[in-house]
Amino acid sequence: MKNSVTLTDNRNGNSYEFPILNGTMGPDVIDISTFFTQTGMFTFDRGYTSTAMCRSSITYIDGLKGELMHRGYDIAYLAENKTYLDVAYLLLNKELPSKEQFLEFKSELKKRSYIHEGMMKIFDAFPSGAHPMAVLQASVSALSAFYSDHLNMNKPEEYKEMAMRIIAKIPTLAAFSYRHKKGYPIIYPNLDRGFTENFLYMLRAYPYEHVDLKPVEIKALDTVFMLHADHEQNASTTTVRTVGSTHAHPYACIAAGIGALWGHAHGGANEGVIRQLEAIGTVDNVDKIIARAKDKNDPFRLMGFGHRVYKNFDPRAKVLKSMCYQLLDEIGINSELIKIANRIEEIVLNDEYFISRNLYPNVDFYSGLILKALGIPNDMFAVIFVIGRTPGWISQWIELKEQDTIKIVRPRQLYVGHTNRTPK
Ligand code: SDX
Repeated sequence: MKNSVTLTDNRNGNSYEFPILNGTMGPDVIDISTFFTQTGMFTFDRGYTSTAMCRSSITYIDGLKGELMHRGYDIAYLAENKTYLDVAYLLLNKELPSKEQFLEFKSELKKRSYIHEGMMKIFDAFPSGAHPMAVLQASVSALSAFYSDHLNMNKPEEYKEMAMRIIAKIPTLAAFSYRHKKGYPIIYPNLDRGFTENFLYMLRAYPYEHVDLKPVEIKALDTVFMLHADHEQNASTTTVRTVGSTHAHPYACIAAGIGALWGHAHGGANEGVIRQLEAIGTVDNVDKIIARAKDKNDPFRLMGFGHRVYKNFDPRAKVLKSMCYQLLDEIGINSELIKIANRIEEIVLNDEYFISRNLYPNVDFYSGLILKALGIPNDMFAVIFVIGRTPGWISQWIELKEQDTIKIVRPRQLYVGHTNRTPK
């Protein structure tokens, strides 16, 4: 049996053969790279929902089963037994770190957690009402000016240095932009603290004052970072790969990924979840919101529900839900928001409209509640997503660069405009 498919054009009986490519898990793919040359036609796939854009060995998702693996390790195992830095190391180096490798990785990141002092002026350029994602995207793009040597890289050790810098500096840039926006004194990284603890420290500390960081808060934020670390070819990762295919500076690629993630249909959803829960106000108003979500004539979407790939529970939402309850119990918050969230989830999981459309809570539904409980402002939620996702983006960029050849991304179109017109 030939490992191929045959397409027949019913208009003229012509048939065309295309090879099938087999992966190690998940659906096989039909290689249609010769489709235009063979048929003179393009394929059409709005939003690329049925299109594989690359080979990858980083993350595997089974949307029907609700499975997520990084380099073959199930996310539930990683969340239960590892830290965010373990997963960042795994994404970058293809293996989980030994204890010595972990300690070296952690130390090397600390050494790079400071930014060039010349970058501090960037924050002054922004008005106090600037959205932190705008500031972060601009400052990451500016990093490409301070590290112009990363524009021409061809060796793994050069990729590694570039990756360590961006992973280490983005939390600092994020914390600095938050402090600047609030008019607070800038708190520099404290090299005695762990990666995730250090970020909370830079957000909360005051000069020369002790800052109280509860272990459950650090664990909750570390879990949020981990569960956002990578997610196959989502919109922002595809953006990073697309910009990477032109050989642009890697930090320009990450800045482009930040721009894509900002949208409320993607990484901006966790901010949207909280704003929606706050707007609902009380459990009594939930039914009205559910009615709007089900109304075909209303563009309203229930933030934190639905997913382009998961047509089952997002496995990350399951982990975050239990982490959320643990955090709220330990810090003693019994917010109305969590009651509203529980009521919404209870209805969605039992209502025909949502069940028939495979709409389940996604990663953003509970991450927003955790970040709210940590006292992180709503407009910083997508920034937290960026910090978590950066090791994934940069690992995907490295995987793109390590291919034998890089094809620049250049899709085609179905043209529906004017045919050739002669000027009157
Ligand atoms: C992330 O891709 C990734 O991996 C992304 C991400 C990652 O880690 O990178 O997982 C992170 O982006 C998670 C998703 C966060 N976004 C939100 O929570 C925003 C709310 N969700 C929706 O915008 C929507 O569900 C999407 C965008 C996430 C998915 O949209 P799809 O797959 O294109 O679904 P669709 O628009 O084709 O909708 C199918 C049906 C429609 O109804 P019908 O036209 O069939 O009657 O489901 C309905 C939609 O109206 N629907 C919703 C809904 N989501 C889809 N109805 C109400 N509320 C919703 N949230």
